[in-house]
Amino acid sequence: MYKNPYGSVALVTGASSGIGYETAHALAKLGFTVYGGSRRGGEDAAYGGGNITMLKMDVTDGASVKKAVDDILEKEGRIDILINCAGNGIAGAVEDCSGEEALKQMDVNYAGALRCIGAVLPSMREKRNGLIVNIGSVGGIFSIPFQTLYSSSKYAVEALTEGLRIELKPWGVKASLVEPGDVKTGFTSARAYAEGCKASAYGARCAQAIKQMERDEQNGKAPGVVVKEILKTIRSKNPPVRRTVGGMYKVLVFLKRLLPARLVEALLDTMYPGSKVK
Ligand SMILES: NC(=O)c1ccc[n+]([C@@H]2O[C@H](COP(=O)([O-])OP(=O)(O)OC[C@H]3O[C@@H](n4cnc5c(N)ncnc54)[C@H](OP(=O)(O)O)[C@@H]3O)[C@@H](O)[C@H]2O)c1
Repeated sequence: MYKNPYGSVALVTGASSGIGYETAHALAKLGFTVYGGSRRGGEDAAYGGGNITMLKMDVTDGASVKKAVDDILEKEGRIDILINCAGNGIAGAVEDCSGEEALKQMDVNYAGALRCIGAVLPSMREKRNGLIVNIGSVGGIFSIPFQTLYSSSKYAVEALTEGLRIELKPWGVKASLVEPGDVKTGFTSARAYAEGCKASAYGARCAQAIKQMERDEQNGKAPGVVVKEILKTIRSKNPPVRRTVGGMYKVLVFLKRLLPARLVEALLDTMYPGSKVK
């Protein structure tokens, strides 16, 4: 069994695709008992010492999250590690996004993680041990133009994790962020577009920025690079606040702390050309 300070039972949300799928399978191969949640469910799998049981679980539905967690606790008596991977992106200019669309984005990426955390914590606090890994994003450090709802939700996940870490100290339960940059997953095809994009004053700029994001994601790293950072977090008794995935992104996140905000803004404008396109 993979040596780690938490235990061998893990719940991975968003396990039907991309980073969550690869994480669930990597953990099972290392001997963990893995439960994978997603709306569509999926195929169970077994590898030597470890296995994956796929559960239908919608993180936007508190009852569905509670049922999944209760079922695991009944069967295993514990959940040692929660990895919040479930997520998606809504694209569009801020002006073109409705309040309802903003809430929808927050419901999956932010409140979804919060619901899962709330469901597993009582049992983790009781045994005075446990780990929560929240998958943030480099987009939760830099606000990506025309994907601002998504960035807002990932900024919120940063805040959630930072506060949670301090709140959990008396019980020794740990929380940590893993922040991927561009990764080639189902995220690109699952991206939704704000209704307002259909007749938008931002037409060509918005379309160009989103095309750029799609290209970057599909030319991005394989999910395995994120899994490596998640495994480092799981091995760590005292995980850091955040692990940014990839050398270039680590440098960018570091530079954000040093550079004036206007310079950071100018750099982002170059990456997702705004002012030059009409
Ligand atoms: N790909 C990237 O470039 C990138 C970069 C930075 C951060 N991230 C983050 O990484 C995480 C994983 O994304 P990914 O790239 O692996 O994308 P993905 O391949 O699209 O996987 C997303 C997963 O989330 C699940 N999901 C979506 N809505 C859900 C809901 N309401 N309830 C339960 N599960 C739900 C999906 O399953 P169902 O559809 O079956 O529900 C799927 O398993 C996300 O939080 C994303 O924001 C991705």
